[in-house]
Amino acid sequence: MGSRLIGYGSYLPEKVMTNQDFEKIMDTTDEWIVQRTGMKERHFAREDETVVDMATIAAERALENAGLSINDIDMVIVATTTPELDFPSVAVQVLGRLEADNNIPAFDVRGACTGYIYGLHCARGFFTAGMHERIMIIGAEKMSRFIDWTDRSTAVLFGDGAGALIFERSTSSYSGIIDTVVMSDGKCFGMLHGSPDHRIIMNGPETYKKAVQLMPEAAKYIMDHAGITADNVDWIVPHQANLRIIRSGAERLGFPLEKILVTVDKHANTSGASGVLALSYAFDKGIIKKGQLVLYPAFGSGLTWGAALIRV
Ligand code: ACO
Repeated sequence: MGSRLIGYGSYLPEKVMTNQDFEKIMDTTDEWIVQRTGMKERHFAREDETVVDMATIAAERALENAGLSINDIDMVIVATTTPELDFPSVAVQVLGRLEADNNIPAFDVRGACTGYIYGLHCARGFFTAGMHERIMIIGAEKMSRFIDWTDRSTAVLFGDGAGALIFERSTSSYSGIIDTVVMSDGKCFGMLHGSPDHRIIMNGPETYKKAVQLMPEAAKYIMDHAGITADNVDWIVPHQANLRIIRSGAERLGFPLEKILVTVDKHANTSGASGVLALSYAFDKGIIKKGQLVLYPAFGSGLTWGAALIRV
């Protein structure tokens, strides 16, 4: 029992914040940001624009792309770390906005930047068990709400946005979500976490060291498990945290730069939306094509990390 990808969609807020915009409000430079992170600009939601707003638009676009209505879906999973409300879940609120009347299960997963891989892991399990037919996985974040404008080392790193993928159960185990692995280590909590007053607390260099070790490890685990090498994979779509982390990981795995999808320059780090947004972007631009094999590693606060292997 497997799955196949049948729809995708994304949403980016209209407002673009460039490195030059940051230069005007804090002690930083475009040169520093580009050199250390590869980021050039990011999208920021309006004050009144919520995670639910962004997730709903991405979901609508994915449904339109699949030629389906929300009543054709039988589970919705939302990866988010930045919901405005503690309850109900963003997933249920999206169903409300879409006026779904199919009473399907809908829930959020909180895996920080690995959230969308946690979502794919859940979906794979439900498909393998034969329990669901069509699952929509949404990644949506308003990271700008957590920015500490007095901390230049974290303020420049994040962006807002949402992406959605729809998978359908299939008898082929070589398409859709082929494999997933997710892990966590709560002992590393202090490295990167949110604060009660909604700020990002991060030890950048320590987080960096873990990211360049754990993302390739998860990707390698998936390749070994599938009995494949870098030569068999068409694209590696890593969590878009930092260009240096992405390049270092790809090097360790023996992937040439041409096989790495990079959107961190345009979107910065959108946490749980990152990979879904990146994949949607690549489909829209015709970069990643139907039938290609994508390796999808991620890493984030928790610590959490993992990877998925997807034939799109
Ligand atoms: N502009 C200019 N200078 C800056 C800025 C800035 N925006 N930010 C920090 N600096 C300065 C520091 O103050 C420091 O100055 P000093 O030497 O005078 O003390 C200097 O730059 C070097 O600082 P470092 O923190 O050592 O810089 P580093 O090379 O490690 O780069 C960075 C920092 C980009 C944050 C890097 O550590 C990194 O990418 N870490 C991983 C972060 C990450 O991926 N986080 C997300 C994880 S996913 C999730 O779940 C959200």
